[in-house]
Amino acid sequence: MKNVLVVNYSQTGQLADVTAQVIAPLAAAGHKVHLETLVPETPFPWPWSLVDFVDVFAESVQLDAPPLKPLSIPADAEFDLVILTYQVWYLSPALPIVAFLNSARAKHLLKGKPVVTLVACRNMWLTAQQTMQRLIAEAGGELRDHIAFTDNAHALATLITTPRWVLTGKRDSFLGLPPAGVSREDVRGARRFGCALADALDHDGEKTGKPMLTGLRAAPVNPRLAMSEKAGHRAFRVWSKIIRSFGKRGQWRRRPILAVFTIYLIAMVFTVVPLSLLLQWLLSPLLKPRLARLRAELELPSGAQEFNLNKYEQ
Ligand SMILES: Cc1cc2nc3c(=O)[nH]c(=O)nc-3n(C[C@H](O)[C@H](O)[C@H](O)COP(=O)(O)O)c2cc1C
Repeated sequence: MKNVLVVNYSQTGQLADVTAQVIAPLAAAGHKVHLETLVPETPFPWPWSLVDFVDVFAESVQLDAPPLKPLSIPADAEFDLVILTYQVWYLSPALPIVAFLNSARAKHLLKGKPVVTLVACRNMWLTAQQTMQRLIAEAGGELRDHIAFTDNAHALATLITTPRWVLTGKRDSFLGLPPAGVSREDVRGARRFGCALADALDHDGEKTGKPMLTGLRAAPVNPRLAMSEKAGHRAFRVWSKIIRSFGKRGQWRRRPILAVFTIYLIAMVFTVVPLSLLLQWLLSPLLKPRLARLRAELELPSGAQEFNLNKYEQ
């Protein structure tokens, strides 16, 4: 029997549902799972008002996370494996998981431990995962596997359905567009990762230093989005510094610059993003070899191959 720590935070229950699917086979196989649900001292709103949604941008990008309530993990707890689940806020890991990773307690819990990351978001997790890799390494953890769940709808459709979900709480099908978020089928499919991890733990797979979730289509990457993310994150870093120079989160002094940023964000979403997708599509024959290399690199460590699907999919 192995001890597994699973860290979770979810506003709508989407990430919690995916996490539950991964945990069930681990518990069924007799492993002891401690599920730690992060609770911010001041809760983040759901659904978000437009002002709150825009106001959390600068702190999200600068990884300036407000404090969490004390964790429920027993002081003497030692874990064989740590699973960190998170969602993406503005191309960065959401503030609750950042608060956890920045804490002295996390550094103690992660030191020398194998870590699996699991993300559920709209579709842009590459930059956030690079940040997670850095924070995990700084805490002394060893990243073994990464699993990504995204909204399968077309990127342009999710630019409407995700903000609608976040700002109104409604995720149903709308204007002929598919429902927002990770599909039920994909959520159920998360079970295969729990089965594979249970199997790996039974054979001390967490001690080998190698990934445990290869061949399970863990982290498929669209390399075209990688380029947009890189450009977006660069601009986000500049904007976040400007906004913070106007005042702190929640202060009225910030409102004028938040209004300017909102106009910029909407203009970006409806002009630059579709244009850059179109440009990349037109250039795709030229970019093909570069994109293939980029994809293989970004899909590491777990990859997107499918050779183990039959073994673990039920
Ligand atoms: C403030 C905020 C910013 C977000 N930014 C992104 C983003 O940059 N990329 C992305 O793929 N999803 C983004 N999302 C969507 C979330 O990653 C997530 O899918 C959604 O909030 C539901 O997660 P939960 O209910 O499990 O908390 C954002 C959501 C919020 C609330």
